[in-house]
Amino acid sequence: MKTLFFTCMLVPWLVAASDRTFDHDSQLIPGSLAGSQLNGYFSDYLKSRRARRALPPADEPDDNPITAGADAADLPTCLLCVCLTGSVYCEEVSPDMTSIPTLPKETAYLYARFNKIRKIKTKDFAEIVTLKRIDLTGNLISEIEDGAFSKLTLLEELSLAENQLVKLPALPAKLTSFNANYNKLKTKGVKANAFKKLTKLANLFLADNMLEAVPYIPESVRILHLQNNNITEVNVDTFCRSNDTYYLRPSLNEVRLDGNPVVLSKYPDNFTCMKVLPVGKYR
Ligand SMILES: *[C@@H]1O[C@H](CO)[C@@H](O)[C@H](O)[C@H]1NC(C)=O
Ligand SMILES: *[C@@H]1O[C@H](CO)[C@@H](O)[C@H](O)[C@H]1NC(C)=O
Ligand SMILES: *[C@@H]1O[C@H](CO)[C@@H](O)[C@H](O)[C@H]1NC(C)=O
Repeated sequence: MKTLFFTCMLVPWLVAASDRTFDHDSQLIPGSLAGSQLNGYFSDYLKSRRARRALPPADEPDDNPITAGADAADLPTCLLCVCLTGSVYCEEVSPDMTSIPTLPKETAYLYARFNKIRKIKTKDFAEIVTLKRIDLTGNLISEIEDGAFSKLTLLEELSLAENQLVKLPALPAKLTSFNANYNKLKTKGVKANAFKKLTKLANLFLADNMLEAVPYIPESVRILHLQNNNITEVNVDTFCRSNDTYYLRPSLNEVRLDGNPVVLSKYPDNFTCMKVLPVGKYR
């Protein structure tokens, strides 16, 4: 009965009173046993309320009382993102996420699509060698430090699609899927041998960029998208081997070269080693 009275009547009064006389909360219920214990609790509660009120207002209303008014970089990653057994989901995070969040140890999958990340630094993934998949589609990434991904020896899938990249960083050797569609990649920024060491690469997506030449395509590649670039030539050695007329490319079964200036029918010999002809301009 006493407890009930305390929670029903006294607590609301106490909160109201301490809100008014905030700086004197130590004197609220002098001599009361419960008071001195509760004081600690209430002053923590009020401090956090006051701290929140003191923060500048957010641009957009945010109904999450924890993240409201805060800056993404100041909040723990798993408060801002959803963390579930090795996966971190940070899609369209509000407030804006402008850099890679600090990842929990042992993260294997990172989905950070549709944010405002601008740059990837070598230190961002330096401690998280457990990563197997990183999806950064739809950010504003224009710069990646060259070592950012190179130590990720388990990384199999990497998407940098829909960003602002003009050049590619070094890529780790175990990649099976790499997507850089819809960037501003130039031939100068994609070294001829950028993919040469990726002996497990199966899907390579470089569509809708500004490439003028086809880089070296590893034999493991099955699907190659190069549509909507500025490619003017596919020479004998791009897919086939000029010194070996019996050579057959084993895996490649989808090549898109449509939306490029190159007219593929001019030199049919350049594709004789392939199982399927590239999709593209033939007249
Ligand atoms: C395409 O390449 C040609 C040279 O081969 C160049 O003159 C032209 O500006 C390029 N177009 C674009 C959109 O980059
Ligand atoms: C085919 O390869 C030859 C020699 O490598 C080159 O001159 C020619 O332009 C290539 N054909 C096309 C359509 O790019
Ligand atoms: C063909 O040329 C490649 C290098 O372009 C070389 O590695 C390979 O051994 C050559 N094959 C033959 C049969 O000469």
